[in-house]
Parts: sequence; C-alpha cells; structure tokens
Amino acid sequence: MKNFENNVLTDTSVAEQEFNQQFCDDVIAGLKAVPKFLQPKYFYNSTGDEIFQQIMGSNEYYPTDCELEIFTQQTQELAKAMIADGSPFDLIELGAGDAMKSTHLLRHLLNESADFRYVPIDISGHVINYLKETLPVTLPGLQLIGLTGEYFHMLKEAAELSPRRKVVLFLGSNIGNMPVSDAQQFCIELRNHLAKGDSVLMGVDLKKNPKTILAAYNDAEGHTRNFNLNLLTRINSELGANFDLSKFEHYPTYDPETGACKSYLISLADQQVSLCNQTVTFAKDEYIYMEISQKYTVGQTDYMASVSGFKPVQHFFDSKNWFVDAIWTVE
Ligand SMILES: C[S@@+](CC[C@H](N)C(=O)[O-])C[C@H]1O[C@@H](n2cnc3c(N)ncnc32)[C@H](O)[C@@H]1O
Repeated sequence: MKNFENNVLTDTSVAEQEFNQQFCDDVIAGLKAVPKFLQPKYFYNSTGDEIFQQIMGSNEYYPTDCELEIFTQQTQELAKAMIADGSPFDLIELGAGDAMKSTHLLRHLLNESADFRYVPIDISGHVINYLKETLPVTLPGLQLIGLTGEYFHMLKEAAELSPRRKVVLFLGSNIGNMPVSDAQQFCIELRNHLAKGDSVLMGVDLKKNPKTILAAYNDAEGHTRNFNLNLLTRINSELGANFDLSKFEHYPTYDPETGACKSYLISLADQQVSLCNQTVTFAKDEYIYMEISQKYTVGQTDYMASVSGFKPVQHFFDSKNWFVDAIWTVE
C-alpha cells in the first residue's frame, strides 16, 4: 500500500494526495456503478506505458504501423500543412505518449527551420519526463515544454504560454478511446480552446475487416490482456486493494455495425474486493467495462469536424486506407 495507511495519508505531496483521492473516488464510483467500469486514463502508470509499447510492437496491432507509415512517407506534406503561412506556431500534442510518430515530423520541421515550439501534454508524468530527457538529445535545437495533466487543463495552460498560432496533434486514434457522443463533445471543447487560424491533426482508425480489428485488441502474446489487468495491479498497489488477478479474464469484442471495439474484464467467481475502506462485490460472470476503441468512416470524421466548428481540409491515408490523419482548420 503506497499512500493509504490506516486511512491516513503518509508523506506524499499535496498534488499526489489530491491525485490519489481522485483516483480512489473514480475507482469506487466506477465499481459501484451498474454496470461496473474503470476510467481508461488510469491505464497509464509507468508499467501501463511499457505494456502499451509492447502492444504497439505486436504483430496484430496495426494502427501504429499505419500512422507511422503516414508520418514517414508523407512527412513533407504534413509539415507543409503545419507551416501553413510560415507564422510561428506552438505544436501541441495531446496524449503524446512516446512521440514516436511525431518525432519524424519534428525532425522535418527542424530541418525546414520552421519557427515552432513543441508542447507535449500527457497525463503520465513518466511519459513527459521521458520526452524532456530524450527529445533534446535526439533532436538538437528543439524547443520543448512538457506539460503533465489532463488534456484540457493543460491545453488551457499551453494557450496561456503564448499568443502564437496553435497546431494540435491528437494521434493514435486517442479520439476513439471515447464513445461517439463524448468524442463529439471533446471536439467541440477542443474547438472552444482554439482560435481562427489554428488547426488540428486528428489521427483516426477506420472501419475495416472486423477480424483484423478484433485481433488487434486480442494479440496472441497477451499484451492487451496484460494492459487491462495492469489497472487492477495499479489499484492494488496505489489504493491498497486486494484484487486477485487470476479471478478476472480479458474479453474483447468488436461490433462492425457501430464500429465499437470494447474490452471487458470478466469476474470468474463470486468475490469481494476491498479498497479505500470499502468493499465491492462481484458476481460470477459480471463484467468491468474497461475501454472503447471506436472505429469511424472518413465521412463520419468529416461530419464530427464540421459539427464541432472545424473545417476538414486534408486527409492523409496509409497505403491500405486503414487509418486517416485529417487536418481540420478553425475558420
Ligand atoms: C493510446 S496512447 C497513444 C500515444 C500516442 N499519441 C500515440 O499515438 O502513440 C494514449 C496516451 O494518452 C495519454 N492520456 C490518456 N488519457 C489522457 C488524458 N485524459 N489527459 C492527458 N493524457 C491522456 C496516455 O497517458 C497515453 O500516453
């Protein structure tokens, strides 16, 4: 148990205490709800970040390869769209992760002597520290300001840093980690944080053969399974819970009609788990809804842009047309 000892917080900083309280409140609210759910933003502790790297490296997980192909094969055209009229800009990446794909774009922009600053935002402090340590070494001359926190809290902070034009990257189909109505709301809020002349590069995984999609969330080596179970491990270590991981099973589904790919953890027994001084009861076969990875058609992404007050102006596809990076501008 790291921070909760006899219900007394030990020597953590105020920010950590607040985080742990919020984490505890969110987990209890999710596990007491019907049906049970956990918030996917908590997947990303340092182990979660590492397992996500393994997922991205697995044979079945195609989205990273598709988007990487776009970033390596169409770098010049992407950079041209960012540089636009040549005015200085802040390149803000929401949920930057390891910035593996954006690094290709950053290198190209530096070679072009573009006047820009890179502002990665991520809820994982581990990720932001990694980027702050590594990118100035691999990309000499890069101006970087890393911000740890929630997308819009940090976007607001980023906006206060300078009045420069903003180009926002939201890659890896992170938008798909929200149900469609939440994604729509997210795009509206994103638009409200931006101004005329700003733009967004939105990476979205497209609908395709259902078997290809399902396999990506059910890889043979079990990385996706481990990723989901790691959240229970995190809750055990940070909130003093006693989840028995052998009593939960990873269950992914894909519905080609709605485009929703969802992951669940199924309770394999009637069981009770205690955490944050509370007890949560699971019936055998009851599920915890863990994550959605929503798939779209190109038309649906254009519609989402337009309804949110953006103009979809350009599409970059991989050679299989499995993934799109779309440029949306604020008119
Ligand atoms: C699926 S990974 C994708 C990383 C990267 N964009 C890519 O394309 O490879 C999602 C990233 O978003 C971050 N993230 C998730 N929810 C977040 C939130 N609410 N606010 C800020 N970052 C978040 C995670 O920590 C993680 O690094």
